[in-house]
Amino acid sequence: MNIDEYRANIAELDNEHHLLLVTLSLIKVTLSLDNIDGNKILPHLKNFVERSKSHFRSEEQHLLTSSCPKDVLKEHISVHRELEDKLDQIVLNPENRNLYSQLENWLIPHLLADKEILATSSN
Ligand SMILES: [Fe+2]
Ligand SMILES: [Fe+2]
Repeated sequence: MNIDEYRANIAELDNEHHLLLVTLSLIKVTLSLDNIDGNKILPHLKNFVERSKSHFRSEEQHLLTSSCPKDVLKEHISVHRELEDKLDQIVLNPENRNLYSQLENWLIPHLLADKEILATSSN
């Protein structure tokens, strides 16, 4: 995964997106270790959940003070809430064999959507 594919040229948000990708990579590496159990994955998973939720707040704050149309912002906020609910469901089962692909499918399409919305919402 390459942060440049998702770069919106807004340093604070790009850094947060980058940290989410790095945390996801750590989850991938940890899952590939021998004799992995839920205890090893849990700290990274918690980190990913907390970072994701706090990132959504800062992105919403950024969009609120940008030229982003209000209806687009409202829609984006509701997508964030749906993603949070979905994430809360995914992490209920950290032993799930498809954990990484579920998290990747959760994050990557949204990073691409963010790039688009942020590109059209300058300050
Ligand atoms: Fe977003
Ligand atoms: Fe984002």
